[in-house]
Amino acid sequence: MNFPELTVDFKDTCNMLFTAKMPQIIGTAVDLNLFDTLAAEPMGTDRLARELGTDSSMTQSLLEILREGGYLAAKAGHYSLNPVAREFFVSSSPAFQGRVLKSMDKMSTLLGNAREIMTQGGPVHDETLWANEEMMETMLQGGRGGKVQSAAAFVSSLPEFSSMRRMCDIAGSFGYFSMGILDRHPDLSAVVCDLPEVAEAAGSYIAKAGYEGRLEARGVDLGAGGDFGTGYDLVFVSNYLYEWSLDHRLVDFLKRVRVALNPGGVFVSRHMTLDVSGEDLKSQLMMEYMTRLGGYPTHAISEARLTEALTQAGFCDFTVRKPEDGSYDNTLDFAARVAAS
Ligand SMILES: C[S@@+](CC[C@H](N)C(=O)[O-])C[C@H]1O[C@@H](n2cnc3c(N)ncnc32)[C@H](O)[C@@H]1O
Repeated sequence: MNFPELTVDFKDTCNMLFTAKMPQIIGTAVDLNLFDTLAAEPMGTDRLARELGTDSSMTQSLLEILREGGYLAAKAGHYSLNPVAREFFVSSSPAFQGRVLKSMDKMSTLLGNAREIMTQGGPVHDETLWANEEMMETMLQGGRGGKVQSAAAFVSSLPEFSSMRRMCDIAGSFGYFSMGILDRHPDLSAVVCDLPEVAEAAGSYIAKAGYEGRLEARGVDLGAGGDFGTGYDLVFVSNYLYEWSLDHRLVDFLKRVRVALNPGGVFVSRHMTLDVSGEDLKSQLMMEYMTRLGGYPTHAISEARLTEALTQAGFCDFTVRKPEDGSYDNTLDFAARVAAS
C-alpha cells in the first residue's frame, strides 16, 4: 500500500471532531438531572449512578468529560458543581438554560440538511416562528441568562436614563427586555410592539411577571408599516433589523423612530455583529451560516452600517458598546439621539 507522506498535522481537527459533541453531552447530563443531583450534594460516581439510575462506568466517563470541560470539580472522589454549571444547568436556578440548549440542538438539524438546502433550496423564513409559547419561553430563558441584564445595564448607563418616562420596545416579544429596563427605573413605563398574535399572548406573561399597568403589549405588524406610536423618550429594538439593514428599509424605519421620539430622545439598537475576532468570529460566522440555511438573509449588522443609516435618518451623538467592551456575546449596543429642540 502506498501511504501518503503527510505535510501537516490532523490532530487539532481530530480533537475538534470530538469536542464539537460537548453541547450534546451537556444536554444529556441536564436530561439525566445530573446537575440537579450534584447541586443538592457533592457525591462519588457509584452513589450518583444509583441516584440517576444509570450505568456506573458510563456515568464515570461522563463525569470526567464534564470535569475536564470545567463544569465540575472533583475532590477525594466526590464531584461538585463549578459556578457555570450551578448558574446555568441546575433547573431551579433563575438563569437555567435548558431550553436554550435544546433549541440550539434543533438548529443543528439545519446543518444536517445543509447540502440539500444549499443545492436544492431550503425553508422559507417564517416571521411568525417566534409567535408560540415554546419560543417565547425559550427567549425568556435566554434573556435571563445574561442578555437582559446586559442590555439594561447599557441603557441605564446613558446620561438621559433618569429623566426618561416612556419607552417603546419594538419587536420585543412579550417585553422581557423592557422588564429588565423597567426594574432599574420606577418612573418609566413601556409599550412593547410585536405581531398581533404575540401581543395577545403577551398579556398573561406581563401579568405573571407583575408588570401590569407599567408594560402594555400592542399588536403591530411592522412589516406592513404598522404604527408604534409617538411621544417616547426611548425606543429600543433588539434582534429585529437584520434583514432591513440590507436595503433602504433600515433608514426608512429609523426615520419613523425619529418621529416617534421626543426631542432629546434616545434610540437603542442591540444586534449581533461580525465585527469580532478569534473564537467570537468563528461562532458568529456559524450563526450567520445557520441563519442563511434557515432562509433568513443575515444575523449581523456592522457598526459602519448602523452609523451610516442613523446619520442618514437624522440621529446624532452616538454611544457604542462593542462586544470587546463587555456587551453580551457578539452584540453591538448602539445608542443614538434626536437633537433636543
Ligand atoms: C428575533 S425575535 C427578537 C425578540 C427580542 N427583541 C429579542 O431580542 O430577543 C424577533 C421578534 O420580532 C417579531 N416580529 C417578526 N415579524 C414582525 C412584524 N412583522 N411585526 C412585528 N413584530 C415582528 C417576532 O414575533 C419576534 O418577537
